[in-house]
Amino acid sequence: MSGAAAPRRLLVTGGLGFIGSNFIRTVLAERAGWSVVNLDACTYAGNPANLADLEGRAGYRFVRGDIADTAAVARALEGCDAVVNFAAETHVDRSILSAAPFVRTNVVGTLTLLDAVRARAGCRMLQVSTDEVYGALGPADPPFTESTPLDPTSPYAASKAAADHLALAYARTYGTDVVVTRCSNNYGPYQFPEKLIPLMITNAVEGAPLPVYGDGQQVRDWIHVEDHCAGLLAALERGVAGEVYNFGGRSERPNLEIVRRIIALVGADAALLTHVADRPAHDRRYAVDPAKAERVLGWRARHDLASGLERTVAWYRTHEAWWRAVKSGAYRDFYRTWYEERTA
Ligand code: NAD
Ligand code: DAU
Repeated sequence: MSGAAAPRRLLVTGGLGFIGSNFIRTVLAERAGWSVVNLDACTYAGNPANLADLEGRAGYRFVRGDIADTAAVARALEGCDAVVNFAAETHVDRSILSAAPFVRTNVVGTLTLLDAVRARAGCRMLQVSTDEVYGALGPADPPFTESTPLDPTSPYAASKAAADHLALAYARTYGTDVVVTRCSNNYGPYQFPEKLIPLMITNAVEGAPLPVYGDGQQVRDWIHVEDHCAGLLAALERGVAGEVYNFGGRSERPNLEIVRRIIALVGADAALLTHVADRPAHDRRYAVDPAKAERVLGWRARHDLASGLERTVAWYRTHEAWWRAVKSGAYRDFYRTWYEERTA
């Protein structure tokens, strides 16, 4: 990374969520001597059970706090030399119901982090963004590259696009050391069961309906979360400030194909598949060209979708207690106890 030593003291925000928790695990397993402060506001998506096994481990510290809170960010950043920002409101359907929390966390929160990083000499920031900022592709369009114009559709995507613009503007205006990554749809362990793949797996196991929006022919480009985390580590270590790197799995599939595959893997009744009303302004197709990350960062997605999905179904089958607690809401009770113990 532009001649500087590799960062070893990370502030990871949103580390109790799906990708953040997988990333923290990756860093602590693969980078000896690195330490992580995990700043998370503990929204409905932040589940302490995701990292329960790291409790008390040297080099890992959890701090409850909001990325839009300047003082909390300044305290958490003390002693750190890089920020990896996962903290976000992330579910498109929720953003359609109410956009304000998305603007607060995704835009104001990111701005707060950028100001803190800008004020801290030698500090790097990785802004974890999404392919959704590019909008929707037609069936014959080439995949998104880093120079595809931003054309977000949902309030979620618009808030992430605003954050990307701010990050890149800080790099240009102030020389802030910030790198932006844009990834396609992730799947894997610890994904909150409101997103397509974990929702379908857990509903299939429970024998509950599998709600497919509209005709189910919308296409997503699936990537295993471990591949995304490896890309983020590469961008943190080797990315150039002010640059954008796309990550994707080169695995475009229509939703119906994913759902039918899950039904087969679980051994569920195909009659559970139910077409329901479509998502408003539903993006028809995403596909990412990851060639720049492959060329510049030396990164490549390793998991193929067929075996990745099989292993993911197996993970949810062997972690029923985890997702049943999430679906029943019981994880919030565990959570209250867990948090109260830490703030007593
Ligand atoms: P998630 O919803 O599972 O987790 C988000 C985490 O952020 C939670 O732990 C939550 O408590 C925390 N958080 C929310 N608001 C906060 C705030 N104001 N301050 C501190 N913490 C806060 O999200 P995810 O799916 O792991 O996504 C992580 C990041 O990756 C997001 O920025 C998202 O836009 C991006 N991304 C996700 C995907 C995907 O497929 N899931 C793909 C590309 C990019
Ligand atoms: O592309 C990256 C993005 O992927 C991330 O930035 C977002 O944070 C993440 O939520 C995800 O967005 P999507 O809207 O693509 O993911 P979701 O899992 O909500 O939906 C995937 C597809 O499945 C989409 O076409 C909508 C459809 N769907 C989803 C749900 C939850 C259904 O048909 N039924 C459902 O019940």
